[in-house]
Amino acid sequence: MGSINLIVAFVYIVFYGLQATANAPALIKLKSAAAKGAVCLDGSPPAYQLDWGKEEGAKNWLLHLQGGYWCTTVEECRTRMNDSSGLGSSTKMKSSYFTGILSNNETLNPNFYNWNRVFVRYCDGSCFTGDKQESSADGPFYRGGRIFSAIMDELLKLGMKNAPNVLLSGSSAGGLATMLHCDRFRNRLPNSTKVKCLSDASYFITLNNPSGFVELHGSAINLPVSCTSNMDSALCLYPQNVVQDIQTPLFLLNSAYDTFQIAATIRLPKASTRSCLYNLTGCPASVWKQWKNFRLKIMQEMTMGNLSRRGLFINSCHTHSQSEFQSKWLGDPKSMLDNMTISDAVGKWFNDEKLIQLIDGKHTSPQQCVIDASEPNSCNNYTWGASYLCNTSIVI
Ligand SMILES: *[C@@H]1O[C@H](CO)[C@@H](O)[C@H](O)[C@H]1NC(C)=O
Ligand SMILES: *[C@@H]1O[C@H](CO)[C@@H](O)[C@H](O)[C@H]1NC(C)=O
Ligand SMILES: *[C@@H]1O[C@H](CO)[C@@H](O)[C@H](O)[C@H]1NC(C)=O
Ligand SMILES: *[C@@H]1O[C@H](CO)[C@@H](O)[C@H](O)[C@H]1NC(C)=O
Ligand SMILES: *[C@@H]1O[C@H](CO)[C@@H](O)[C@H](O)[C@H]1NC(C)=O
Ligand SMILES: *[C@@H]1O[C@H](CO)[C@@H](O)[C@H](O)[C@H]1NC(C)=O
Ligand SMILES: *[C@@H]1O[C@H](CO)[C@@H](O)[C@H](O)[C@H]1NC(C)=O
Ligand SMILES: *[C@@H]1O[C@H](CO)[C@@H](O)[C@H](O)[C@H]1NC(C)=O
Repeated sequence: MGSINLIVAFVYIVFYGLQATANAPALIKLKSAAAKGAVCLDGSPPAYQLDWGKEEGAKNWLLHLQGGYWCTTVEECRTRMNDSSGLGSSTKMKSSYFTGILSNNETLNPNFYNWNRVFVRYCDGSCFTGDKQESSADGPFYRGGRIFSAIMDELLKLGMKNAPNVLLSGSSAGGLATMLHCDRFRNRLPNSTKVKCLSDASYFITLNNPSGFVELHGSAINLPVSCTSNMDSALCLYPQNVVQDIQTPLFLLNSAYDTFQIAATIRLPKASTRSCLYNLTGCPASVWKQWKNFRLKIMQEMTMGNLSRRGLFINSCHTHSQSEFQSKWLGDPKSMLDNMTISDAVGKWFNDEKLIQLIDGKHTSPQQCVIDASEPNSCNNYTWGASYLCNTSIVI
């Protein structure tokens, strides 16, 4: 129970992470999708935000899938329908600011700033995989896979079908969705289109209730067949069981000290150590030891198998999600590896300049990277997530 709330806390972090400065394109609600049964958990239409490209980028498309954990029981999904962040209903969504990989500023996002950039909003609780026909009239509806497909239909019509270059990306739950959909997405575009996938902060080595997830949402038909034909479909949510078979070029970006996974998998024993999730100063050695073990394990898993086509960027920032936060994407030297920003690395990899595989083997402790103004950063700060994590009367 504690860990579920803890995880929900990060929903807020990912969502608010985008609200820094810069532009916030209008929300576009796709009402026609409802005819295809593609609806949010509460039955409202799915939505996306689009900032049109220009100049030499005008024909290229970047699709970034929003994150925000998932729901694995009817109750959790029902609660999500009312969530004020809009993770279960487009009636509650607010338009998000476009920063980091979505920024329209050439200095802040040199490789993609002038592409058509789409932020695909997440309101299905299933990483865009659900597809269940039956549901009670007032929800929850389990239709994430149909949402993905309906929004793709729309974007293809708006010009994506003629794009020379397309990048499907996503962070956290959105990055997991990116992995799961990567090859099928690729197959919807002409062979002549260069298509690649970027998965940020989504190499989950443990998951909360994966069998509940797949069964509840009816996700199995939208998971990679290469995996579901070999094992229990619930296991096909795990990156280590799908990454091997993805044919489309894939880039994995992750911190070896991902705060979401650390919070979800390592129980912080005492309230006094909980603030370590935000502030490394004064964090006791007992906590660090567990984190170091986590680092070794995730690094080992991410580098397993045939690496001949997999892009990798594994740094040590004390954070979760790096493509959406401007300072990590480009700006903070501590998030760089080999003198390369994440923005640089992804750009060079997309443009085939070289196979980027950068792994921080040097820092055996987490690095306090710059905290964007919109990130929670202390126990008396504003988000529900922070107040929960730091509430000393709750024992996790
Ligand atoms: C969701 O909000 C509606 C309307 O405010 C309310 O009737 C319902 O009880 C709420 N459901 C949950 C699970 O909070
Ligand atoms: C782009 O970002 C840079 C660096 O923050 C800033 O100096 C510049 O004014 C921005 N350009 C625009 C057009 O907003
Ligand atoms: C696209 O490539 C695939 C795999 O190489 C091939 O099977 C298919 O026929 C190609 N489609 C077109 C329209 O060329
Ligand atoms: C790794 O993948 C590449 C590209 O698909 C392939 O050419 C190569 O044979 C594979 N290597 C091994 C050891 O399987
Ligand atoms: C790092 O990159 C910058 C800008 O590309 C360059 O000016 C600098 O010399 C590089 N530093 C090292 C140590 O390679
Ligand atoms: C981090 O913790 C240290 C020691 O407890 C404290 O002095 C510092 O103000 C904290 N920093 C922030 C940003 O909360
Ligand atoms: C939370 O932190 C931000 C950034 O440091 C600061 O601007 C804001 O005032 C803080 N909010 C509260 C309630 O302390
Ligand atoms: C801390 O948690 C306790 C127990 O759940 C709750 O009663 C209390 O209101 C919480 N305090 C804050 C400041 O959120």
